[in-house]
Amino acid sequence: MGLRTPGGQGTPVWDLPVRIFHWLLVTLVISQVVTVSIGGNAMQFHAYGGYAILTLILFRMLWGFFGGTHARFRDFVRDPGAVIRYAKSMLKGPHEQHRGHNPLGGWSVLAMLGSLLVQAATGLFANDDVMMEGPLAKHVAGRTSELATAIHDVNAVILLTLVALHIAAVLFYLLVKKDNLIVPMITGHKPSAIPNESTRCGSNWIAAVLLGCSAAVVYFVIRI
Ligand code: HEM
Ligand code: HEM
Repeated sequence: MGLRTPGGQGTPVWDLPVRIFHWLLVTLVISQVVTVSIGGNAMQFHAYGGYAILTLILFRMLWGFFGGTHARFRDFVRDPGAVIRYAKSMLKGPHEQHRGHNPLGGWSVLAMLGSLLVQAATGLFANDDVMMEGPLAKHVAGRTSELATAIHDVNAVILLTLVALHIAAVLFYLLVKKDNLIVPMITGHKPSAIPNESTRCGSNWIAAVLLGCSAAVVYFVIRI
């Protein structure tokens, strides 16, 4: 299905679509917090940012099946036994090395994706009682919109907590474990070779098609 092995220095880990997804997501989540803090007319941009995030999350869910080796859910969603083994290795000393997400990190990625999906979806039905409502709010009863708004507000705290833990974990690896995970999320490569079978990157063309499909679904939903 058009997979290729990337060239370049070091061990390939994150394909281009995963890296673009990640840094766009970071920018958009920050912009969601900024727009909601400004309020007023900025809420229009909050809605646009929300649609963009929803598109990215739908894309990432598809990429979890069609993407490169380490983008796939089956590569990083591991059973509880693997998570416990990994956690024990972290406490003992030199921790188990993984090319992609480690077993613990894999679950934190799933939690963030799930929380982002809930956040963007409930936003579509939310209202701020003043001047802004999500595009689907008018199609549901007032109480349903209130419920969606309440979930949107509570889940915002959960999401930001997950993000804070995520950044703390990345900094912990950097400063305590001397394992820099940030550079690979920029260059796509890990500097040292970790023994493993071959790693394949997903096709950028397939990624573009999947992104287009995700955007079309979001466009259709907000146009209902
Ligand atoms: C709004 C803020 C952020 C969100 C929502 C977020 C979300 C995510 C998600 C969903 C992934 C999984 C990527 C994938 O497989 O597609 C990820 C991985 C990663 N993120 Fe973030 N991230 C945020 C901020 C940051 C920041 C500020 C840094 C750097 C300091 C960072 C560094 C990383 C790294 C290094 C990985 C790969 C971890 C690994 O090696 O397993 N993230 N992030
Ligand atoms: C993942 C994407 C999104 C993020 C991260 C996000 C984040 C937030 C945050 C942090 C708040 C403030 C919550 C509070 O006041 O306690 C908020 C409020 C709000 N958001 Fe979003 N949002 C997203 C998507 C959307 C979308 C798509 C819409 C509508 C198109 C939307 C509409 C609203 C509205 C109307 C409020 C005000 C709710 C109230 O007054 O309690 N959001 N959002």
